[in-house]
Amino acid sequence: IRLALIAGGTSAERDVSLRGAAGVEKALDPQKYKVVRYDPATDLARIAQDAASIDVAFLLLHGINGEDGTIQGFLDLLGVPYQGAGVLGSALAMDKNLAKVLYQLNGLPVAPWIMLESGDLDDPGRIIAEVGLPCVVKPVRQGSSVGMSIVRDVENLSAALRLALEHDNEVMVEKYVQGRELTVGVLGTTDVQALPLVEIIPSAQYEFFNYEAKYKPGASTEICPAEVSDKIRQKAQDYAVRAHRALHLRCYSRTDMILAGDELYLLETNTIPGMTPTSLLPQAAAAAGYSFSDLLDRLIELALE
Ligand code: DAL
Ligand code: MG
Repeated sequence: IRLALIAGGTSAERDVSLRGAAGVEKALDPQKYKVVRYDPATDLARIAQDAASIDVAFLLLHGINGEDGTIQGFLDLLGVPYQGAGVLGSALAMDKNLAKVLYQLNGLPVAPWIMLESGDLDDPGRIIAEVGLPCVVKPVRQGSSVGMSIVRDVENLSAALRLALEHDNEVMVEKYVQGRELTVGVLGTTDVQALPLVEIIPSAQYEFFNYEAKYKPGASTEICPAEVSDKIRQKAQDYAVRAHRALHLRCYSRTDMILAGDELYLLETNTIPGMTPTSLLPQAAAAAGYSFSDLLDRLIELALE
């Protein structure tokens, strides 16, 4: 199989992508795959020229122009199959606001939130009235917690909004739910299988599972399978499968949630989950009996379905 491994790109998660790609390239069985690397930052024209000789693309891009439907549309036009969500699903999941609207429409629980634009920066009144403090401020289309803050005091609100606006022109302000961080991967398109839950425990110096806590080796502990009751596990897995369907996703996805008491709140669904050595989906797949190479084989099989 002639496989285009597409990684890098221009988003804030470029490094996450490149680190993931190094591991993916190593794990792809050379007997099965002839791998050619492409970086959309420099190689879009080359992808188009080579399209006829590519059997499948493996997209390992995160964020804008990687996970948002744009490269997916480009590959659709070129007739190159790829793993993961198509144009619509990618675009829906990338926009945390639209994703939450769809979760709600499908009966999936989310924390209250509002959307702000740059004109609303210096009026904390609406945020305090509709969301309250503490709250989470995040750019609506970013990953890996880039540009995100937890705000506990009204004086810090404006700086948090400005930071988020450096990364997007729309900002989400969500009620902060104190609880355990869980994530649930799923595999499949029509038959969707939920993987074991992972709980993430950032070490004490991190206020939340931020960029450093996500990628610095040892900065977080992941527990897989997470130690929760069967009832919570089933509910979380059911929600992850329903989120995958609600957002029109394919092949795989990973839905992040907070568990507060017995209640789960969905945060977002990642359509190209991270694949670095500290990433979560590969750990969940391993707990379900898939080695990293098996997981890649399965994703490529699903891409070619
Ligand atoms: N956005 C990062 C890559 C993740 O969800 O794993
Ligand atoms: Mg994400």
